[in-house]
Amino acid sequence: MTANQMASRQLFVTTALPYANGKFHIGHIMEYIQADIWVRFQRMQGNEVNFVGADDTHGAPIMIAAEKAGKTPQQFVADIAAGRKQYLDGFHISFDNWHSTDAPENHELARQIYKDLRDLPAEKGGSLIETKTIEQFFDPEKNMFLPDRYIKGECPKCHTKDQYGDNCENCGAVYAPTDLINPFSTLSGARPELKNSEHFFFKLSDPRCVKYLEDWTQGVDENGKPRLQPEVANKVKEWFSVRTNPDGTTSEGLGDWDISRDAPYFGIEIPDAPGKYFYVWLDAPVGYLASLKNWFDKGGPKNRKINPDTRSFDEYMAAADTEQYHFIGKDIVTFHTLFWPAMLHFSGRKAPTNVFVHGFLTVNNGEKMSKSRGTGLDPLKYLSLGMNPEWLRYYLAAKLSARNEDIDFNADDFMARVNSDLIGKFVNIASRAAGFLAKKFDNKLGVISEDGQPVINLISSQKDNMQLLYENRDFGRAMRETMLMADVVNAYVDANKPWELTKKEGMEARLHDVCTVCIEAFRLLTIYLKPVLPQLAAGVEQFLKTTPFTIQDAAAQLGAGHVIGDYVHLMQRVDVKQLDALFEVPNMPEASALTAQAAIKSVAKNTPKAVDDARSEIITIDDFAKIDLRIAKIVNCEAVEGSTKLLRLTLDVGEVDDAGQPKTRNVFSGIASSYAPVDLIGKHTVMVANLAPRKMKFGMSEGMVLAASAADEKAQPGIYVLEPMAGALPGMRVK
Ligand code: 2FM
Ligand code: ZN
Repeated sequence: MTANQMASRQLFVTTALPYANGKFHIGHIMEYIQADIWVRFQRMQGNEVNFVGADDTHGAPIMIAAEKAGKTPQQFVADIAAGRKQYLDGFHISFDNWHSTDAPENHELARQIYKDLRDLPAEKGGSLIETKTIEQFFDPEKNMFLPDRYIKGECPKCHTKDQYGDNCENCGAVYAPTDLINPFSTLSGARPELKNSEHFFFKLSDPRCVKYLEDWTQGVDENGKPRLQPEVANKVKEWFSVRTNPDGTTSEGLGDWDISRDAPYFGIEIPDAPGKYFYVWLDAPVGYLASLKNWFDKGGPKNRKINPDTRSFDEYMAAADTEQYHFIGKDIVTFHTLFWPAMLHFSGRKAPTNVFVHGFLTVNNGEKMSKSRGTGLDPLKYLSLGMNPEWLRYYLAAKLSARNEDIDFNADDFMARVNSDLIGKFVNIASRAAGFLAKKFDNKLGVISEDGQPVINLISSQKDNMQLLYENRDFGRAMRETMLMADVVNAYVDANKPWELTKKEGMEARLHDVCTVCIEAFRLLTIYLKPVLPQLAAGVEQFLKTTPFTIQDAAAQLGAGHVIGDYVHLMQRVDVKQLDALFEVPNMPEASALTAQAAIKSVAKNTPKAVDDARSEIITIDDFAKIDLRIAKIVNCEAVEGSTKLLRLTLDVGEVDDAGQPKTRNVFSGIASSYAPVDLIGKHTVMVANLAPRKMKFGMSEGMVLAASAADEKAQPGIYVLEPMAGALPGMRVK
């Protein structure tokens, strides 16, 4: 690609749309930072970017979570959406638009794409949609078909109880939910019934699709480069040959894709099929287009400079030179490299230009970031501790490459890289020169001698290389090479010792020269770091009194006579105390080391009459270790119809299911005499997480919450649910 072509590109860029059932975790933030660096680099080159995101709102888990929270799904997802801005602003993510897959644009676009696929004329090979009747489990109490993840039962192979509908966690057997012994619905506890239902399928096995997708995934992009990352292309290749079905059988090649779900379902109704909804993964990627359309309709890109004739969404999407890129995690490659390109292409639209796949982020000990629940590094806690978001941007950039591989956030490494490289090598260059320039030369830059010019030339000559590295998302290498350039500048300063020059007679010109080299070099390095450190770069632009840096500025210098501003410190160092606080596991008070029962008693120890004096038998620490006590968040609490004693608690114990979806527990607790549901919602408590599930009249109880009460409850009524000290998070073990 020539420099000219590069200067006139129009790019449509997205990140994966997060499910609207939880807060962002550090894995989301990593993806957004990666995409944002690329987007900012493209903008710095003069390319036009439309960078959009949205909440992925549909599907059974969100519908069920909303019901449990006592909200409509619409209200539930709106509440989640309201929390997004603080993260995006906080980490300097420059989305142009944030929308929702439940927005009217998405309903319209998804239905239209479906109709285009359904109504393909005979001369184009005919419809790619067909219906088949399938047999599926149905919950007679909830009156709904059950997704596999809501069915549990006994493993047909090893007979372990309480296994999910698709595979056994104990023996690893893979089976269909219908193979489970004594299956039950995790939503109601009821025994599911088999029922027939007509489902809609996208005929991915059709030879037209297979041929097109083989070419798209294994071929080259518009620029003649292999489209997918090699490791991704290789993985995808396997899916064209042998496929293992959930029932353990294998089939050749691509299978048809089930794109419908039965009511009740929070989603988009399928045209001409009342009571049938698109499976969430059908309309989720359409959300990319919906967000872009919303952005165009709001007039966002109205002053388009690049192709002013493509001002409407439709024109823009149809334009041959619109490039479309999706940043995604390695777990959702199938959807983006098979279903999505096929949906677009066969509905008469342009397929994505490319899909950029990244690995997972692990924190400190290599613990995998769960898809729906981050552990270890809470992004909002990071910000609330006053930690600079650009430290994290720099650290992640330094670790990222174009390869689809996992990266680890390591606290010590983070501190070393930020303090030694970013601050020690780069930021300090400015401070090494700025004082002398202010004191001795009224902040005016001087003439660079032949001695200093090679330093500037060296950095300036890296412009094309840096452009290539950013373009190829080789951010780690871009950071390493920038720091090597900073090393050269620091060596130059060390060799010339401005602190000595300032004391010597007749050395003003030399001092001026050396300081000018520092400032010019600092400016160039800042240009190279600007996509990663936009806020710091803005500070440098202000300090140097320049217009906003573009990549082209790296080919020029400020020049002698340019007056800069007074230096203000541009970035603080990481304080180890901040890192300690970030990863702090709250200290449990002594009492927490006692047995659960003793802890309950200790709560009551100041009210002697309340204490049950009959001590239980002494147990060993091993006995105690058998009780899996966990911090639980009461995400919902409601009265139980037909019971005056019980409350139904929905508890978040930090668990996720096999599909990576957050999983809550349903627990009945006899505390209605002391608490109204509203008193408990949002509170944390302690639960016994490994108590065998118990089928009660009102449904399945999956654990027990701890509460204290007097020995003689009649004489001294009152039940006190245990609440941990601030900072305890769902899933933390109480020990
Ligand atoms: O895996 C996920 O988190 C999905 N919500 C990603 C959807 S990406 C796109 F297709 F919307
Ligand atoms: Zn088993």
